[in-house]
Amino acid sequence: MIRILVLHGPNLNMLGVREENIYGTQTLNDINGMLATWAKDAGVHLEAKQSNREGELVTWIQEARGQFDAIVINPAAYTHTSIALRDAVLSAEMPTVEVHLSNIYQREEFRQHSYLAGVALGQISGFGSTSYLLGVQAALDHIQSKLQSSPSS
Ligand code: DQA
Repeated sequence: MIRILVLHGPNLNMLGVREENIYGTQTLNDINGMLATWAKDAGVHLEAKQSNREGELVTWIQEARGQFDAIVINPAAYTHTSIALRDAVLSAEMPTVEVHLSNIYQREEFRQHSYLAGVALGQISGFGSTSYLLGVQAALDHIQSKLQSSPSS
C-alpha cells in the first residue's frame, strides 16, 4: 500500500479561528478528515501530523525515510525561513509536495520566497483546503507513474 505523510507546520492548529478572511473557516480536523476520506477512497495509507516546532518537523521528515513513499507538507511560516526543513527534505530523498492554503505570491513580499520549493516535486498554492487534496493526488500520481516505469524498485 502506498504511504503518504502529511505535515502541517506552525499555527495551522489554529485554522478555523485564525485570520478567517485568508485561511477560511475549516479547522485542521476538518482538513485531516477530508484527507482521511480521500485516502480511504484511493486505497492509500495516510498519516497527518502538526507541529509548531521546526526541529520536530525536521525529525519527522528524517524519520519518514523508508517509512513513507511521499511527503505532502504545508510548512506554514517555516516556508519562508527554514533552511533546516529544506535540508531535511533533501536528506529524506523522497518526493515532497509543498502546499499552501493561500496564494503566497499574492501576499506580502516576505511570503513570496519559499526555501522548500527548489527541492520539492512541486508546489500548490492558493486553493484553500483543496491545495491539500491536489497535493496528495499529485504525490500519488507521481509514485504510481514511477512504479509503472520501474516495477521492481
Ligand atoms: C501558509 C502561508 C504562510 O505564509 C503562512 O505563514 C501560513 C500558512 C498557507 O497555507 O497559506 O502559516 O503556509
